[in-house]
Formats: sequence, C-alpha cells, structure tokens
Amino acid sequence: MADEAPQTKFLLEESALPRRWYNIQSDMPSPAQPPLHPGTGEPVGPDALTPLFPMELILQEVSQEAEIPIPDAVLDIYRLWRPTPLYRAHRLEQALSTRSRIFYKYEGVSPAGSHKPNTAVAQAYYNKEEGRTRLATETGAGQWGSALAFACRLLGLECKVYMVRISYDQKPFRRSLMQTWGATVVASPSDETQSGRAILEEHPDSPGSLGIAISEAVEDAAGRDDTAYSLGSVLNHVLLHQTVIGQEALAQMELAGAFPDVVIGCFGGGSNFAGLSFPFLREKIAGREIDVLACEPAACPTLTRGTFTYDFGDTGKLTPLMPMHTLGHDFIPAPIHAGGLRYHGAAPLVSQLVRDGLVRAEAYLQNDVFASAVLFAGNEGIVPAPEAAHAIHGALETAKAADEAGEQRTILFNLSGHGHFDMAAYDNYFAGDLEDVSLEQEEIERTLGALAGLPTPA
Ligand SMILES: Cc1ncc(COP(=O)(O)O)c(C=O)c1O
Repeated sequence: MADEAPQTKFLLEESALPRRWYNIQSDMPSPAQPPLHPGTGEPVGPDALTPLFPMELILQEVSQEAEIPIPDAVLDIYRLWRPTPLYRAHRLEQALSTRSRIFYKYEGVSPAGSHKPNTAVAQAYYNKEEGRTRLATETGAGQWGSALAFACRLLGLECKVYMVRISYDQKPFRRSLMQTWGATVVASPSDETQSGRAILEEHPDSPGSLGIAISEAVEDAAGRDDTAYSLGSVLNHVLLHQTVIGQEALAQMELAGAFPDVVIGCFGGGSNFAGLSFPFLREKIAGREIDVLACEPAACPTLTRGTFTYDFGDTGKLTPLMPMHTLGHDFIPAPIHAGGLRYHGAAPLVSQLVRDGLVRAEAYLQNDVFASAVLFAGNEGIVPAPEAAHAIHGALETAKAADEAGEQRTILFNLSGHGHFDMAAYDNYFAGDLEDVSLEQEEIERTLGALAGLPTPA
C-alpha cells in the first residue's frame, strides 16, 4: 500500500532553515594553531588581513562563539535552494545487498550545482557591506568560480576568476556558466599577474594547480583597493558557512528516525566535509560514537600521506603560513578529473581534528571512484561530480566492510555536487582512458623538502 512505502526523501520546510552557523572552534579539544606571518614567524593579526578580506570575515576566522547569526540577506538567497534534500538510498542498498542503511545529503540542487554557494553568498554579502565592489578568486573544477560568480551577480559585485588551466580546457561549459553570471574568467597560470608569468616562464605548458591560481587571485586583490580576495575552502570562516548542511542533516536524520554511525565527505580543502561533519562532530565531542571519514584522491593524498606542519596556502608563497596537513606548496597534483580535490594543503581545523583522532581519512584511485559513481547513478539517478564520487566510494567501501564483518551500520554521506559539467570525465572513464595515479614516496619527499626552514607547529 502506498502509505507503507518506504520514505525516500526527507525534506525540511523553509522555516526550518538554520539561522546560525555552527563554529566548531568553541568545542575543539585542542584549539587550532594560529596562522603565522612568513617574515616574522609571529601570529598574523587582523590588520595584516584587511587588504584581502572584510573585517567581519576576519573576526569569524578567529571567533570562539559557538554560533554566529546568519544575516537575513544571506538567508533570503539561501531560500532559493535551501533546505536541501536528504535521501535514503534504498535502490543503492538493494543493488549492494547490504544490511547497512545509506543516507545522503544532496547539495547539487543549488543554482551552481554544489555546496559552494553556501559560503559564496555569505562572502559576497560581507564584502559588499564593507564597500568592496569586486572579488578575485581561483577555481579548480569551476564549481567554486561559478558559485562566486552567481553570488556576485545576485549581490551586484564584479567577479574575476583564475581558473586552473587543465579545468579551463576540460570544462568549457563551467566557464560559460561563470560568464552567464557576469564573471571574467582567465586560465591560470595567466600572463596577467607576476606569479602567473613566473610559472609560465619556467613551464609554458603548466596544467596549473589551485596553489598557483590562489597566488594569482591574491596578487590581484592585494593590488587593488576595490577588490577583495575570496577563497572557496580551507579557511575557518568558509567551513563555518558550510555548517548549514550538517545542521539540516541532523534534523533530517531525526525525521528518518535514524542517527549515523558513519559520516562521510569527500576532501579537497575541507569545506563540504566540514559542512556536513562539524555539527555531527559536536555530538561526537559531547560523547556520541560516530566514525567521521574524509575521502581524498590517491593522486593528492594530503591527509593520508602529507605532513602536519606550517606551509603556505599557495605556490607563490603570498599567503600566511597555515598549520595544516600538506604535500608541500610546490606539489602539483596529476591532472585527475576531480579538479576540486587537487590541493596541496588542507583546512587547518580539519587537520587539527585528524591530529586529535576525531576524524580519519582514506585515499582512493580514480577508476574505483568512477565505478562507484556509475553504480550510484544507475540506482539513485543522480550523476555525481567526480569530487563527490569520492564520498560515494567511501560509503560503498564502508558498507562492504560492515557486511564482511557481519555488522549493520547507518551511513550518511555528503553528495556535494552534480556532475552535469563533468561528462567529458565520464567519457574518458568509459573509454578506459583514466590513469590511476598513485604517488611515489620520493615525489612526496621532494615537495616536502620545500618546507625546510619553515616553523613547525607545537
Ligand atoms: C562538488 C565538489 N565537491 C567537493 C569539492 C572539494 O572542495 P571542498 O573540500 O572544499 O569541499 C569541490 C571543489 O571544487 C566540488 O566542486
């Protein structure tokens, strides 16, 4: 009978949209260590950051308040797509013949197709409030750039995007999307900045990397009074803005009458992972048992094979030194198709949580990830972004391990975006052209060598 059919979607009313962001800094057992000025080795004060960021975001970066109110103007824009749905993956469970229950939170319903607008809108809002008229940023796969282009368009700001060369070539329609929202997009490394020109001189065919594109965007913003820099991941305030995801998911799991044993997100810089997991980590820190898993590519295994130390956030060494897991700021990941996961560093907050044993990480090869993505699409319908497919693969591996151990687990993962602009990657996978890149230890040791002489965290 219809009313006995198992429920698939768990939806919240608009009135249930979270009104506050959750700040995990108030609950962390060991506080995150401060960013340092590379010249002096001293903690970076707010004044050093004002050329790049509005004061409100600088204050959020260091805030110890547990909750920070979301401005009404930001909530008004969130309402265009939030609250996002939470699904029970019944068909996938059946296909796997698993005893476990699998849930996913779907962030691909945003206008840009991923979780990234959750922070893009907030950042554009605070910049506008403080008088900036233009934002400069980098983008990997184009998801972040399109999210910021969308947010700037709605709030009336100009937007300049430095897009990693390999994605610029692989994903021309992401570029068109950014242009539709009024942004100016150039391939990075570009000849428009000193950092870009320096790389091009040495490597004219450089595929680019997030580290290089960040240098270009920071240089652009630092050189103009009307422009601020906007980062789509890694920083504390970015992770903070994403916590609407996990807060909604907590309420939706309650609607489903379930609570996750395992919470999973893919990991690039850490924002979608943090967005889902931080509100659950609040419960874990308070004593609940939850396994929290970050899934990264074997071609860029920052959390699983990097070192926790102070490093620059960019290749051109323009940013403060961040305490984080890193493969070294010179590391240029192989051009895998999950462009948004090709970052040498990691969010300092997540790095600290890994260090404290509250979060663990696994790394996967891209052919395995695409196989899981295709299995997921064939059962749940949604074609995932290659980045998000890492979380799917993590969920499938978790369910498999539980079945092998004769256990039943409740698994929740973040489906951070759809893959409608990533079909060339799927074509390559079907053609058998995807390379499985697993890094040599020597290469990691070489790029970590660039960290000699930098301070080490306590
Ligand atoms: C769909 C999607 N998921 C995940 C990521 C990785 O970023 P983060 O680790 O900040 O969530 C990206 C980055 O571009 C993305 O586009």
